[in-house]
Amino acid sequence: MTDENTHFGFQSVPLGEKQDRVNEVFRSVASRYDLMNDLMSAGLHRLWKGDFVSTLRPPKDRPFRHLDVAGGTGDIAFRILEAGGPQTKVTVLDINGEMLKVGAERAGDRYGDRIDFVEANAEELPLESSTYDAYTIAFGIRNVPRIDAALREAHRVLKPGGRFLCLEFSKVDVPLIDKIYDAYSFNVIPRMGQMVTGDAESYQYLVESIRKFPPPAAFARMIEEAGFKRVTYRPLSAGVVAIHSGWKI
Ligand SMILES: C[S@@+](CC[C@H](N)C(=O)[O-])C[C@H]1O[C@@H](n2cnc3c(N)ncnc32)[C@H](O)[C@@H]1O
Repeated sequence: MTDENTHFGFQSVPLGEKQDRVNEVFRSVASRYDLMNDLMSAGLHRLWKGDFVSTLRPPKDRPFRHLDVAGGTGDIAFRILEAGGPQTKVTVLDINGEMLKVGAERAGDRYGDRIDFVEANAEELPLESSTYDAYTIAFGIRNVPRIDAALREAHRVLKPGGRFLCLEFSKVDVPLIDKIYDAYSFNVIPRMGQMVTGDAESYQYLVESIRKFPPPAAFARMIEEAGFKRVTYRPLSAGVVAIHSGWKI
């Protein structure tokens, strides 16, 4: 891979082309995205997201300004609003208007002005510096072409004392389970994607992109390089996913 290239799943593509291809994936699956998550993870993604929001523990009794990047159809935002108090406000930011549209429809008027939706790139947030108490990104960073730029932007928009949390697919490190996981990923998920969304390729991208994402210790170093302190990570479900945490101090 040259400086000008990056990966889109197992393919090498020019850095400037990856985002368009990622956008096409999520445009294609937006309307069935939530259903597919339930089917292919057998509901496990709900437990992971629950654990993620429990790790964040939004306060019940004071103002809390939260940014959920690559927030898609709003799953993480809704959970944070339900766990937090009346002064918790969440901005859902995503580069894909179709994913946000599904999110806004799902939210309806349940949360009033405690939620807003912003169409923008994680690499260049149209947001003021030192504004947010916390930043989350769930199953999003793997899709961003310039991960280092997105991490620097996360650091910039957080207030001093603010927390960065990332939930992302990781590396299964338990013998035998890794084999079963690979067989399931490559044989079942794209076929399921074809049946449910009519698009096997997008789910082939999903399973390939997971394999190309840095292992958890390397990703932790990238978070530190963006300026975060006290960076830690915790694998869930034998390492199928991991939660990374860092602080702007
Ligand atoms: C797998 S979905 C995750 C959605 C949601 N966070 C969840 O956990 O269900 C990945 C999302 O990342 C978004 N995304 C991809 N590249 C992005 C970028 N550069 N900036 C912001 N969002 C991006 C996609 O549009 C998509 O909605």
